[in-house]
Amino acid sequence: MNFKKELAEILAGLLDGEKTAAELELLIEKPKNASHGDLAFPCFSLAKIKRKAPNLIAQELAEKIQSPTFEKVEVVGAYLNFFLNKKLVAEQLVSQIISQNGAFGTQEFGQDGNVTIDMSSPNIAKPFSMGHLRSTVIGNAIALIVEKCGYKPIKINHLGDWGTQFGKLITAYKLWGDEDKVKANPIKELLTLYVRFHEEAESNPSLEDDGRAWFKRLEDGDEEAQSLWQWFRDESLKEFARIYDLMNVEFDSFNGEAFYNDKMDRVVNLLEEKGLLVESDSAMVVELTEEELPPCLIKKSDGATLYATRDLAAALYRKENYDFVKSLYVVGHEQSLHFKQLIAVLKKMGYDWAEKMVHIPFGMMLKDGKKMSTRKGKVVLLEEVLNESIEMARHNIEEKNPSLANKDEVAKQVGVGAVIFHDLKNNRMNDIEFSLEEMLRFEGETGPYVQYTFARACSILRKGNWQAEAAQHTFNTSWEKEWKVVSFLMEFPNAIKRACENFDPSLIAKYVVDLAQVFNKYYAEVRILEESEEQPARLALVYSVTEVLKEGLRLLGIKAPEEM
Ligand code: ARG
Repeated sequence: MNFKKELAEILAGLLDGEKTAAELELLIEKPKNASHGDLAFPCFSLAKIKRKAPNLIAQELAEKIQSPTFEKVEVVGAYLNFFLNKKLVAEQLVSQIISQNGAFGTQEFGQDGNVTIDMSSPNIAKPFSMGHLRSTVIGNAIALIVEKCGYKPIKINHLGDWGTQFGKLITAYKLWGDEDKVKANPIKELLTLYVRFHEEAESNPSLEDDGRAWFKRLEDGDEEAQSLWQWFRDESLKEFARIYDLMNVEFDSFNGEAFYNDKMDRVVNLLEEKGLLVESDSAMVVELTEEELPPCLIKKSDGATLYATRDLAAALYRKENYDFVKSLYVVGHEQSLHFKQLIAVLKKMGYDWAEKMVHIPFGMMLKDGKKMSTRKGKVVLLEEVLNESIEMARHNIEEKNPSLANKDEVAKQVGVGAVIFHDLKNNRMNDIEFSLEEMLRFEGETGPYVQYTFARACSILRKGNWQAEAAQHTFNTSWEKEWKVVSFLMEFPNAIKRACENFDPSLIAKYVVDLAQVFNKYYAEVRILEESEEQPARLALVYSVTEVLKEGLRLLGIKAPEEM
């Protein structure tokens, strides 16, 4: 079903070796305006080789082209416009979608290569922030998309569960903590303790020393420190698990920063052996002058390791354990410098595979144009946000479809889907404004709009008594009225491929919104359920649309309820 390729091969055959099919394929365009056909080929680049005016070349080529795939070739100036044979193409496509049973758009270019995806990665004993939500949603969609393209995604939650802050937290807990309170409301309580530590440390600086001492004990494996840390971690993870559950996200590994505690000596030794470690202000750093980056801090003056040291150890570990073909880090753009340094240090160490590491940054979530911050008590609890969204979705359902059978489940799918879609529909670098009302609208570019379109199409199929197994594959129609929808469906594999190559789920989000719009227009213009010789073809098309919408939403991590 790759007509560009097919056309490129036809053209290459007519050009006796002047350009390869692969070169020609890159020149073929998809006209924006449907009246210019389905594909177009500009002849300008042939003028030099052929020493002829491009419009003459177009004329000559047009006369020679003969292929059942194209019903018409038009010459407009230097352009050749190709019109696909609607009947042939539509019937092939629809039959393919039906018989592939959900697998339409699946590709194999990933060749089973492992792709590690560092995603979500919240910090223990702190609230799950909007940044972590974005990382979770974007990372999850990327995992699904690369999998669709034949890679093996490995989702890693690089928990922020190590560092001096845990010494401070232990100090605060020992001074003012209450076990029952922590148990009842772990993250809220731990955050309160942490904030109190900082307040009191302002007038009582010796607290900082206590904090450092506790962290040292933790690093050295002291039993009391370890068991408190373990408890804070377990309680926090329990809270995070509820959010992951709501969002249907699973991980292959929860190896966070603490996991690398015993793997950092090796990194430090390697850096030393390679002569890369130098002292600076009594700390140990790797200079990155040639790379025009600030030095990467490896060890503090008191011997404590840092975030970057742990990321170096993690990169080595991932290479050795997963032998990745790509290693992705879905982390906000505030950390761009950190990842540049990380990759630069690994390259300096002589690891070519550092080329395969990619930082996938994203913009901020804003509320009324300002950053949604978790500090200073202005906590936006993500779980509350999700639950509120589910509540609003439920309210909508009560209004629109009060007799719906599984309201709770559908409300969850719509409420959560709305939040996810809102996050993914824009280029990930854009900051996005948080607004539940906006997310949950049933019109415009929203998750519920796409879900609603899917449910509507399902209801048409129910009314038309459609059965995929019994579907006809030869149809009595010209596919004229259906063509716009068909040509959109045809683009799905390409949208997936581009989303994969650019690690950009928004390309799929835009695709499903566009398809939903084109379909709704078709639905408004054509009486699909009216008895006619065209009805079987129309139902087959509606079914194809449901398959592609459902799969598109699935690739974003969103469920598609059949009724809502
Ligand atoms: N825990 C970090 C934070 O919240 C994100 C970790 C990202 N992953 C990594 N390998 N550094 O900022």
